[in-house]
Amino acid sequence: MDAALVGCGFIGSLIAKHISTGEIPLRLRYALDRNPEKVERVQALFDKPPAAAESIDEIAESDVKLVIEAASIEAVHSFAKPILSTGKDMMIMSVGAFATPGVYKTVEEICLRSGAHVYLPSGAIGGLDAVSAASVGRLELVEMRTIKNPRSLEGAPYIEDNKINLEGLKKAREIFSGTATEAIAGFPANVNVAATLGLAGIGVLETRVKIIADPGVERNIHEIRAKGDFGELTFRTENLPAPDNPRTSLLAALSAVAMLKKITSPIKIG
Ligand SMILES: NC(=O)c1ccc[n+]([C@@H]2O[C@H](COP(=O)([O-])OP(=O)(O)OC[C@H]3O[C@@H](n4cnc5c(N)ncnc54)[C@H](O)[C@@H]3O)[C@@H](O)[C@H]2O)c1
Repeated sequence: MDAALVGCGFIGSLIAKHISTGEIPLRLRYALDRNPEKVERVQALFDKPPAAAESIDEIAESDVKLVIEAASIEAVHSFAKPILSTGKDMMIMSVGAFATPGVYKTVEEICLRSGAHVYLPSGAIGGLDAVSAASVGRLELVEMRTIKNPRSLEGAPYIEDNKINLEGLKKAREIFSGTATEAIAGFPANVNVAATLGLAGIGVLETRVKIIADPGVERNIHEIRAKGDFGELTFRTENLPAPDNPRTSLLAALSAVAMLKKITSPIKIG
């Protein structure tokens, strides 16, 4: 199957690496990034390198079957419609785009018209399969508690807008509590999983999120709790941050590779 990669940063490069070794059986035809050096680094992984796409239109007009997004929420907002309306499938990493009211419905309508599919990897959390199954019955609570080193929260709009000083923090401090939609708006590059959890369970407006800055942790910790007719579940992941992007957990990138292996495999597990 022919594919295009949009976003050649940490996650995009790891995906490209797994395609170049043949572990993911895709042919990468195009790579797009606003930073040309990142595209060149991806091209260098291949004997037969993907073309550097000039724009999303070039990819939309091509005959690739799958577009892999690992760029940004803003990229999903501007690229999903032109890609999906041509019937191409998309795997989307910047799931936070779905926390904006109305986006899920719009994407669903485009897909139903064009026959395209959208794949959302589980990211740096576990337990989505159970939350999704539990949502078939009555779910009364789904919440996520995220604990991160203040370093990985630097620059988030919520921190800047509220002038929260994370420097010199000596102990753990809860800095945010709200819905998944509010969490994504305040921390767009940190809690994409809050949107994925919301979509799998009771929706992004009902899913509760707390964010704790803790100078004593080096891992990105996510604790999921759900309660309903099925009983109760808790799921905790302690993620090592990606070496060159402390906001992204290694498990999130691995979940993208795993999803692509699942899409391209005749046998799908889980
Ligand atoms: N679903 C999840 O659980 C999860 C987990 C971690 C990260 N993410 C998200 O996945 C995306 C990629 O993460 P990453 O760690 O590889 O980030 P990164 O910063 O290492 O790489 C992103 C790349 O995309 C490029 N880019 C961004 N917007 C673009 C645009 N509009 N057009 C062209 N290029 C663009 C940037 O130049 C950069 O090279 C981010 O949106 C991140 O928030 C999702």
